[in-house]
Amino acid sequence: MPHALIAPFETPSLPVTTGEETFEFISTPFKGNGVVGVRHEANRFLLKYVERDGKILVKADKTTRIPKLNMLKKAIIHFCELTGSEVFQTNTALNKKDREYANYKDLDFFLDGCDYAKPIWVEVGFGSGRHLLHNAKTNPDVIHIGLEIHKPSAEQVLKQCELQGIDNLYVVDFDARIFLEILPANSVQKIFVHFPVPWDKAPHRRVISKGFVDEAITVLEPGGTLELRTDSENYMVYSYGVFMDLASAELMVRKNHFLDVSSKYEDRWKKMNKNFYDLTLTNTLQSEPRTFEHDFSFEGFVPFETFADELSGKAIVESDYLIGAKERYPLGNGEGLLKITMGAFGTPQSLYLMFQNHTVSYYPKTPYPTGASLRAHSRLQAMLHGTDNG
Ligand SMILES: C[S@@+](CC[C@H](N)C(=O)[O-])C[C@H]1O[C@@H](n2cnc3c(N)ncnc32)[C@H](O)[C@@H]1O
Repeated sequence: MPHALIAPFETPSLPVTTGEETFEFISTPFKGNGVVGVRHEANRFLLKYVERDGKILVKADKTTRIPKLNMLKKAIIHFCELTGSEVFQTNTALNKKDREYANYKDLDFFLDGCDYAKPIWVEVGFGSGRHLLHNAKTNPDVIHIGLEIHKPSAEQVLKQCELQGIDNLYVVDFDARIFLEILPANSVQKIFVHFPVPWDKAPHRRVISKGFVDEAITVLEPGGTLELRTDSENYMVYSYGVFMDLASAELMVRKNHFLDVSSKYEDRWKKMNKNFYDLTLTNTLQSEPRTFEHDFSFEGFVPFETFADELSGKAIVESDYLIGAKERYPLGNGEGLLKITMGAFGTPQSLYLMFQNHTVSYYPKTPYPTGASLRAHSRLQAMLHGTDNG
């Protein structure tokens, strides 16, 4: 990742606007570390500075997603220029062009912009993408949404879409377990989960869970299917249990059934003569429409340090949401940024609370409107109002 190693610097006075971005604020060093707020056109993100053996490493903050590599590199270069510090080492040479993929979509697109009138298929954890690309080519009237948290795999499939002129496939590099929560009810025909990581020693990390299956049932249209394919007998038995815990279920079980296309994993396991299991769950319910109306604003203000101390002192873990405080970045005069995690256990979202100008807001943007993040927001609001009895 782009970074620069520079000499220690005097904290510059901000805001400062360069030709391309505005450096809006810088936190006072806390245990040698801090953040710098950057605005570039409509994007807001943070740079981090970290003390390393008497030098300062300037790099990206991973929580605030930075859409383009050159945007990040320029922010690092311009920030180093602003400090006037000696640069010992850097890897911020600009790329000729930032790659922009038409098939790449962020979550906002699915909240406001996706055409749900067309049939939709979703593939979770597509890896090499063979099955996803095959489906997109052989079913051109369907919109295919591929979810993959491994960025190099996502980029490979984006390149293939460009090379093969595929325009009915959207690639999203986001956790599928949160993603399903932002899709409209009854909008999806098929969900594929092929060869998920078994996580035998950490079952809470599995894609298939009660929460995921409940979400799948909500977004699947009546007659729509959730298809699990695995080589792990253990995962198959576990998933069978999760499906059978539903109030009603229509399930097809198959062993060693072969598909038109075989993934890289599948090829490897075929050579080892492993067994393959397919569990196909058919949704029989028409779900209530989902409303995505939400208000993530805050009323009330508590000085930054007071609130950060209160939240750091108690991790909030309820049965259906959690809130935890992480790093804090003071800006002085009772202002600051507090990194928090909030949302569902197993899939919390990380973001910042900004305490500035006697208001509190999310930075750089509000959480995704899942049920758990809305419940966590209400709790934070009660804490800010001084009406929290938890
Ligand atoms: C074992 S690989 C299987 C890949 C592919 N389906 C195949 O059959 O070759 C599992 C993939 O799921 C992805 N993955 C794991 N958890 C995920 C999640 N919560 N959301 C999206 N992708 C996920 C991993 O990055 C990995 O690429």
